Amino acid sequence: MTGCEVMPGGSTYGARRVRVLLVEDNEADARLTQELLREVQGFDFDLRRAGRLSEAMDLIRAEAFDVALLDFALPDGMGVPLVAEMHAGAPNLPILILTGNDDEAAAIEALKSGAEDYLVKGQGDGHLIVRAMRYAIERKRIVAMLKEAKEAAELANRAKSQFLANMSHELRTPLNAIIGFSQIIREQTAGPPVADCYRDYANDILTSGMHLLELINDILDLSKIEAGKLDLLESVIEIGELVESCLRPMQARSSESGIRLVTALPRDLPGLWADARKMRQILFNLISNSMKFTQPGGRVEVRAELDGEGLELAVADDGIGIAQEDIPRVLTPFVQVESTLTRRHSGTGLGLPIARSLAELHGGSLSIESAPGAGTTVRVRMPGERLLRHAARSA
Ligand SMILES: Nc1ncnc2c1ncn2[C@@H]1O[C@H](COP(=O)(O)OP(=O)(O)OP(=O)(O)O)[C@@H](O)[C@H]1O
Ligand SMILES: [Mg+2]
Repeated sequence: MTGCEVMPGGSTYGARRVRVLLVEDNEADARLTQELLREVQGFDFDLRRAGRLSEAMDLIRAEAFDVALLDFALPDGMGVPLVAEMHAGAPNLPILILTGNDDEAAAIEALKSGAEDYLVKGQGDGHLIVRAMRYAIERKRIVAMLKEAKEAAELANRAKSQFLANMSHELRTPLNAIIGFSQIIREQTAGPPVADCYRDYANDILTSGMHLLELINDILDLSKIEAGKLDLLESVIEIGELVESCLRPMQARSSESGIRLVTALPRDLPGLWADARKMRQILFNLISNSMKFTQPGGRVEVRAELDGEGLELAVADDGIGIAQEDIPRVLTPFVQVESTLTRRHSGTGLGLPIARSLAELHGGSLSIESAPGAGTTVRVRMPGERLLRHAARSA
């Protein structure tokens, strides 16, 4: 097989038909190009022809093409501006110039304006055109992949900078209390340590310290999950007890903020074979989010449901909600959606990504259904294999 031949299945698009847009005003030239392509064995293609640039742009808007063969002189455009216009209108479409004009300077200009190649009519057969098209498609695909990877890396980098900014705030606030109050205690500024205020200071030191510890644990957990180094310590969990243990620490916050915290748990739930601490962390993160992002007087419900496929644990609120386009973002570590409520509450943007990773570590999944103003429901699914329908519930 020569290098010019198209190998069936030899590339990602080799197995399917290549959609070619031929932009050529000259009827005879168009027919000739089509014939040249037809002669190439194994090259399966669909060809659409446009006689003018405007017509080509209409076709591009209406249909998907893999590659365009563009004549350098059309009734409504000439040379480099023609390429530039087409490239601007369809930046992802590989454009190959196919012209009667063998002009090296024009070829360089065309490439600079976005064309992938410059072919001269009559200076090669169909194989040459097909090979140039294949390479152009492949090059464009690789460039698009690189661009996507670059954008993802930039997004991650922006999230990291945002995280560092939040983090310094989050770390500094409890540290102020830790340093300030321990100084007061050391200097005995308020008298010997019998005064009541020392107990309050010690309390503030303790809460701040615990907050810092939680934060650091979250970060460590996430990095362990990402490195695939977090193992499950499984036992049989009673789902009702699991939910109760997550709600207990929230009761005080619930009565303070006037948010109703309710449960809907069917009776006779089976035991769940899972890591109790991690399951608690999942539910705790979701419930604390719902409490944070729900206005006073709102309602937060924790539900458990069984279906043919497994168990669904859901935390639903009637709070501020999340816009559709932000849902994938909030599952990315360190991302928080800006709003008055989020700014009023602390956080680092780790709760949801950790909850999702922990659910996935159990072979489960986490999904979010939400709309601004209508509230949020986060569902955690656990696979059926983890349910011990008939097993004794010990452990
Ligand atoms: N129930 C919810 N209602 C509205 N917005 C939510 C809800 N849960 C999460 N969000 C949005 O998703 C973002 C990310 O949530 P996540 O739990 O990951 O971080 P956080 O709560 O801001 O901080 P952390 O959980 O690390 O303390 C939140 O900042 C908020 O914008
Ligand atoms: Mg959270």
